[in-house]
Amino acid sequence: MTWTPSSWTDRPAKQQPTWPDVHAAQAAIDELAERPPLIFAGEARQLTEHLGRVASGEAFLLQAGDCAESFRVGTADAIRDKLKVILQMAAVMQYSGGVPVVKVGRIAGQFAKPRSSDTEVRDGIELPSFRGHIVNDVAFEASARVPDPTRLLHAYNQSASTLNLLRAFTRGGYADIRQVHAWNLEFVADSPAGKRYDEIADGINRAMRFMESCGINLDDTNMRQVDFYTSHEALLLNYEQALTRRDSITGDWYDCSAHMLWVGERTRDLDGAHVQFLSGVHNPIGCKVGPTVDPDELLALCEVLNPDRIPGRLTLITRMGADLLSTRLPPLLAAVRDAGHPVVWACDPMHGNTFSTEDGTKTRHFDSIVREVIEFFKAHRDAGTWPGGLHVELTGDDVTECLGGSHDLGTTDLRTRYETICDPRLNARQSLDLAFRTAEALSSPAS
Ligand code: PEP
Ligand code: CO
Repeated sequence: MTWTPSSWTDRPAKQQPTWPDVHAAQAAIDELAERPPLIFAGEARQLTEHLGRVASGEAFLLQAGDCAESFRVGTADAIRDKLKVILQMAAVMQYSGGVPVVKVGRIAGQFAKPRSSDTEVRDGIELPSFRGHIVNDVAFEASARVPDPTRLLHAYNQSASTLNLLRAFTRGGYADIRQVHAWNLEFVADSPAGKRYDEIADGINRAMRFMESCGINLDDTNMRQVDFYTSHEALLLNYEQALTRRDSITGDWYDCSAHMLWVGERTRDLDGAHVQFLSGVHNPIGCKVGPTVDPDELLALCEVLNPDRIPGRLTLITRMGADLLSTRLPPLLAAVRDAGHPVVWACDPMHGNTFSTEDGTKTRHFDSIVREVIEFFKAHRDAGTWPGGLHVELTGDDVTECLGGSHDLGTTDLRTRYETICDPRLNARQSLDLAFRTAEALSSPAS
């Protein structure tokens, strides 16, 4: 069967909204199809190349950002602070871990959310679930929960303006490695992680001065600019299809809504629409892998998503949960290794460690997150495979959504600043802490 941008429509598509006015929805999709692409195919190819280096153990992937971006928090400060934390984490991992870090944001398009239930019940009232700001609003009111197709265009517009600012920051000097001290956020600087970060920043500055004194030109674009890529879950297939364009250079199809797209744990059925859609676009793609996948199913997914075995084309993002990882991951690592698939293995230590407190607040404990990362490295060392990346939900804000960390947030602290519209995110301090723990695991010799 030949692939086309619409051939997914022959397959069952889970998690799609039911738009009350199908004509209005079609009009929005038609308008999106006329809009310019958000990324250029050449950039997606470059990311595949960078990820190819991760697949072969020469680099590390950091993929991070919101669980769900919000239409209400697209301010310049929020975007800048998220970028700052990601740049800081990458600097820590690159300096202490000793490998180049490929930086990918869950940003500029991460608006659609899969839900485990179609409805949500509160105090005996049942309403349609919140599906991300690209579909409806989070407020628990009947009118807010009605899917509104004008949101598709809003999501495109916010993605475009976010990406525009990210491009300005990463190309215009803000991400210059000589700014390494300036990325330390005020509320982080006084914490142990912030202080430790400043020591690393000093070390980087000393190394730069040394190189300069040796006559190495630090005005090189590699020093002044950073390659920062965007990604999101390719969930709303009509939206993704509308932004899928044929590259004029190669003639190949690219989903130009982001550099990298991934298929989530709930929609990665081998014969389903999402896998079918992603199998045909030439962007680098990710596939979430939870504890229920067996080796044969995973190999079949690798075969469908990367039949030509292009290094960097496919990233397997494992999200097992700290308790299950040591039994569930090793058979998968062995199977993929023995079949010779050149995948990037990334660890999502967030989604297998979510639980609700007694009052029903969704949270995660920092210690479980760290434990999953450490178990991930151990499983890879044992299998002789490369622990290639970290995939996390974070924000640059001083929120209190995940428990633990250096300030040892407890359940009562969750009430102070719990702002996520979907899953609980690490705050900037916890994120930096996690980067240090990951760098330690990266630099410790294989056992
Ligand atoms: C997510 O990454 O926000 C998500 C929904 O993850 P998963 O598909 O792994 O549950
Ligand atoms: Co999430």
